[in-house]
Amino acid sequence: MKPFQEYLDTVNQAIAAIPYPEQPSQLYEPIAYHMALGGKRIRPVLALMACDALGGDLDNALDAAVGIEMFHNFTLLHDDVMDNADVRRGKPTVHRRWNDNTAILSGDTMLTIATQYIARTGSQEVMDLFNKTAIEIYEGQQWDMDFEDRNDVTVEEYINMIRLKTSVLLGCALKAGALIADARDEDADAIYEAGVNMGLAFQLMDDMLDVWGDPETFGKEIGGDIMNNKKTFLLINAMQLAQGADAEELRRWLDDTQVERDSKVPAVTALYERLGVRQLALEAIADYNARAIAAFNRVKMSDEDKQAFIALSNKLAGRSY
Ligand code: IPE
Ligand code: IPE
Ligand code: MG
Ligand code: MG
Ligand code: MG
Repeated sequence: MKPFQEYLDTVNQAIAAIPYPEQPSQLYEPIAYHMALGGKRIRPVLALMACDALGGDLDNALDAAVGIEMFHNFTLLHDDVMDNADVRRGKPTVHRRWNDNTAILSGDTMLTIATQYIARTGSQEVMDLFNKTAIEIYEGQQWDMDFEDRNDVTVEEYINMIRLKTSVLLGCALKAGALIADARDEDADAIYEAGVNMGLAFQLMDDMLDVWGDPETFGKEIGGDIMNNKKTFLLINAMQLAQGADAEELRRWLDDTQVERDSKVPAVTALYERLGVRQLALEAIADYNARAIAAFNRVKMSDEDKQAFIALSNKLAGRSY
């Protein structure tokens, strides 16, 4: 296994080399803009790591890696419209810098480019996995939107929603790498399970950073989830724990949709702190990270490779960006 940085360099070179037609520039410029903003590139690196650890040829996994990252970026263009988000990776979101129509159509184009890259792997199994994952993500995004208007969402429903919108893509990246390496079914399945659990911890942490992150490193505006009444693990637990005046206050903030960011975000954050939901989220992250590690340990690969995945899982579970 190579160091993370080497896989990252390979991915970044491949992404920088993607050719885009010049015209219509309004279609392709936003794609190039978004792909050049960087981001952590976790998913493509996971695909390459899995392929390498399971004895495959890295070159064969690169199309899958690029396709999955392109797909991820497509979901972000549309997600930022749906979430009314102004900032991504420290820069204006595509729908703010251009407009909603641009985010929709450039996003559509990215989805198709992503599918072309996946097709180039020549693996029907990878294509089937990719398409199944894509539809799961749309389902997750729909639940995420539906839950904004509901106040009775359970933790179980939330976990299922984030499994769909976020976790399956990490599982897909790892499993695609494993499939390209011609891994045994039990290894492909175990590494998928590891990815899903890693993804659950990852999204729980994303929700925490949306409240307590440093906007400089996180690259997104803090408090977006609170403004949208997103039924995060934090809000669901707060609604269940709040009593008396706290419960009334929380209900008032949820009902108030016209309120200013500067009053709602600090007030709801203070409620979260009073109710101790931050600690609950950290415990849930540790639990899903432990499940991810257990699944990585079941994959037949060298101890050194296992340690590389475990170190990455630990790093993501404790990330601040
Ligand atoms: C953002 O994903 C969307 C979530 C699933 C939380 P990342 O946090 O991987 O975003 P980038 O690609 O690094 O910007
Ligand atoms: C995003 O979840 C999941 C997908 C884009 C599919 P979020 O809405 O929490 O992601 P961020 O916080 O905007 O990156
Ligand atoms: Mg969002
Ligand atoms: Mg969203
Ligand atoms: Mg988020």
